[in-house]
Amino acid sequence: MSDQYLRATRLSGELFERAKGVFAGGVNHNARFYQPYPIFVSKAKAQHIWDADGNRYTDYWMGHMALILGHSPKPVADALRAQVGQGTHYGMGSRASVELAEEIQKSVPCAERMRFCNTGAEATMYLVRLARGYTGRRTVIKMAGGWHGYNTELNKGVHTPFDRAESAGILEGEQAFVKNVRFNDLGAAERAVKEAAGDTALIFLEPVLGAGGCVPADKDYLKGLRELADRDGALLAFDEVITGFRVSLGGAQEYYKVTPDLASFGKVAGGGLPLGLVAGKDEVLSLADPTRRENFVSIGGGTFSENPLTMAAGLATVRYLRRHAGDVYPKLGEAGDMVRRSVDRAFAAEGVETHTTGLGSLFLTHFGAAPRDAEEAAGGDRQTRLDYCLALMSRGVFILPGHPGGISARHTEEDLRRLASESRRFAASSGRGAQGLKAGSGRAKAGRREG
Ligand SMILES: Cc1ncc(COP(=O)(O)O)c(C=O)c1O
Repeated sequence: MSDQYLRATRLSGELFERAKGVFAGGVNHNARFYQPYPIFVSKAKAQHIWDADGNRYTDYWMGHMALILGHSPKPVADALRAQVGQGTHYGMGSRASVELAEEIQKSVPCAERMRFCNTGAEATMYLVRLARGYTGRRTVIKMAGGWHGYNTELNKGVHTPFDRAESAGILEGEQAFVKNVRFNDLGAAERAVKEAAGDTALIFLEPVLGAGGCVPADKDYLKGLRELADRDGALLAFDEVITGFRVSLGGAQEYYKVTPDLASFGKVAGGGLPLGLVAGKDEVLSLADPTRRENFVSIGGGTFSENPLTMAAGLATVRYLRRHAGDVYPKLGEAGDMVRRSVDRAFAAEGVETHTTGLGSLFLTHFGAAPRDAEEAAGGDRQTRLDYCLALMSRGVFILPGHPGGISARHTEEDLRRLASESRRFAASSGRGAQGLKAGSGRAKAGRREG
C-alpha cells in the first residue's frame, strides 16, 4: 500500500467514507473500486483530471474509455451549450438524432439500421433478443472473460473460473442458453456450435477483449467465426462498446475487415453523454419495426433514448471524427504502439517482464506472460499491477487499476514519454527489486474487472 497515496488523497479518503454511508460499497460501478479507496474527481479538462485534494493527473481512464477527444472538447462543449437553450429532453425524435444515425450509418460497415438506447448493457440485451427473434434459435455463444454490461443473461463467466453466473440473484434458467468459450480459440467455438446442434442464435464477442485483459482478437479468428456463423445459420455480433469509433472510425469491424450481422455501441459515440446503440443488417433490425405484424421483436429505447443532449454531444463527436479520421486514427494508433513498446522496454530495462497488450489507443500492462485470452490475462500478477497504478497516481498519472487505458487525441508525446519514464521509476524503486517483481504472484483484492 502506498503511504504516499494515502497522504496525497486524504480528502478523497474522507469522501469515500461518506460515500460508503450512501452507496453500497461506496461506489456506483464495481469497476470504480480499488484498494485502498478510489480518488474522487472534482474537475476534468483535455487529458487531465483533478481530484478532491487538488492533485492533477494525466488521465488514461478517459471517462471509462468514452472520451476519445479528451475531456470537454470544444465542439462538444459548444454543441451542449447550444442544445441546453433548445431544451434538455424531448422524449421524441429530433433532427440531431436522425443526423447522428446517418453519420453512424456512413461510418460503420454493418450499420444498415440501428436503434439508440441509453447504455451499452441495454444495447447488448436488445442484440441478443434480435438474434433470437431472427433465427428462431436459443443458444448464445460468448467468450470467457467477455463483458457486455450488467444485463442478466450475459453476466456469466466474466471472471475465473468462467463457467458461472457473476452474481447471486441470477437464476440458472436465465443463463441456461448462454455458453462461454475460450477467446481466440476457433476450435472451442466450433465445438460449442456443434454441441448446440442447430440451436445457435448468436456468436457474440468483443473484438478486443476489454475487461478480460485488453486482448485483441487474431485476424483469422474473427474471419473463422464469420464463416462458422454462416455455415451454421447463426448470427455473428461484435460488442463494439469499447472499440466503436475508437480503434477506427468504423470500429473493429472496419479494422479487421470482418462485418458482423449485429453490433452494440456506446461510449465514444455518445460524445461523453450516456448512449447505447444496437446496429446491424436491415433484415434483422427491421424485426423491431413497430408496424410489423409478424415476428415483431420488442426492443426499446427507454424514456431517455435519443435524448437531445446525448444526440448533440454524439453528433459533434462523430462529425469531428469523420472529418478528421485520416489524422486522428493513425495518430492514436501510433500513440498506442508507442505506449505498448515503451512501457515494456522501461520494465525490461529493470529486468521485469511485462506485456502491454491492446489495439489502437487501448492498452493494458500485464505483469507476466503475454495473454491470448482472459484466463491467461487473469494469471498475471495483479498485486504488482495495483502497486504500479498507485505509484503512477502518486506521480500524477491515472490508470484505473486492473483496467485498460485509453489514449485520447489530447495526450501529447510528452505525456506518453512520462508514462514510460514513470513505469521505469516504479520498476527501479519499488523496493522489491526486479527479481521480486518477476517472482511476484500475489493476488490483489483490486476490485472487480467489469467494464
Ligand atoms: C464491451 C462492453 N460492452 C458493454 C458494456 C456496457 O456498457 P454500459 O456500461 O454503458 O452499460 C461495456 C462497459 O464498459 C463494455 O466495455
